[in-house]
Amino acid sequence: MNVDFDTPVDRSGTSSAKWIRYPEKVLPFWVADMDFRSPDFILDAIRSRVDHGILGYTRPPASLVDAFQNWLQRNYGWDVDESWLVWIPGVVPGINLAANAALSQNGTVLIPTPVYYPFLDVPANSGGQRLDSPLIRDGDRWVMDYDDLENKAADADVLLLANPQNPTGRAYTQQELQQLTDICARHDVVLVSDEIHSAIILEPDCTHCVTAPLNEQTKTISLFAPTKTYNIPGLSCAVAVIPDRQLRRRFNAARRGLVGSPGPLDFTASEAAFNDQTDWLPQLLDYLRGNRDRLAEVVGDRMTRVEATYLGWIDVSDLEVADIESHFLQHGLGLSIGSQFAGEGFVRFNFACPRPVLEEGLKRLGAALSAG
Ligand SMILES: Cc1ncc(COP(=O)(O)O)c(C=O)c1O
Repeated sequence: MNVDFDTPVDRSGTSSAKWIRYPEKVLPFWVADMDFRSPDFILDAIRSRVDHGILGYTRPPASLVDAFQNWLQRNYGWDVDESWLVWIPGVVPGINLAANAALSQNGTVLIPTPVYYPFLDVPANSGGQRLDSPLIRDGDRWVMDYDDLENKAADADVLLLANPQNPTGRAYTQQELQQLTDICARHDVVLVSDEIHSAIILEPDCTHCVTAPLNEQTKTISLFAPTKTYNIPGLSCAVAVIPDRQLRRRFNAARRGLVGSPGPLDFTASEAAFNDQTDWLPQLLDYLRGNRDRLAEVVGDRMTRVEATYLGWIDVSDLEVADIESHFLQHGLGLSIGSQFAGEGFVRFNFACPRPVLEEGLKRLGAALSAG
């Protein structure tokens, strides 16, 4: 059955963080939240859990653990032991707990940038120092600077990676990730890999490669959640995969009394998502690919090819405007501003919305880009 991604869904009255941020005349293309309904198999699973009538404190169900292990094996060929898994209410808490678990006193967190902005707060949150390693634009893609990473890793305890990359939309290849994991192994750096966008691969010639198994010498904390893929980011559930026992113990110790467990509806939704083998996701990816292509037509080589995620990273450094955010707002567009990501001169555009909304946004975007 064809999924209808085209008909806009009115989100007013839901206190949607995406939609209440700006006045009504502004269209929001900022936070990574899609304007599509979640699939029925997830909504039905939630309804049937609600029908039980008691929503008490809940442990991660064995059926969820199975669903996740099978999902990881089916999609990425990675077998993980149940004892390696720590269920938490979100990937952002996970990257912060990871840094708390792995940092020495006053230690250093190395971060390839630009990056999803909560990464940039992690060093200060965990009492460490931040060391950025800027990505380099190589034609139609952004790549890591391995010489710079090799030098900086010598001083670092932890490296925070977004794989696939948010905001540049890179799906790193196995070879690229191999180089990175080898650097981490050589310098005894704990690699924290946020793989929340792993299922949103748009380019047919790209695949998602899980980072952790590439070098068994590298200590890793890998974070997964189905919340972006199935548009359930308000149902907070994620899982950290931590093969090293000591590191896992420290991660759990950092969490104690501060970071609780996901709730029963969060677990139920995630389990239904990990079990999904329908054609909902392939249809979503097709639709997103179409949206990406439309965006690319409007922005040209301001944006590299978006291989993964539903986020476009657009170079607007040539615009002669004093305040980038206000410039786009004046054109009726709520975008994420590059400086937040340590990427001055760029904006990030979330294209996961019905085509009619996108087309209106693109009209405004075209006008804003030629008005600078
Ligand atoms: C790379 C990345 N990590 C984490 C998150 C948020 O994760 P959570 O809502 O599970 O904390 C996002 C949301 O946009 C993201 O893009």
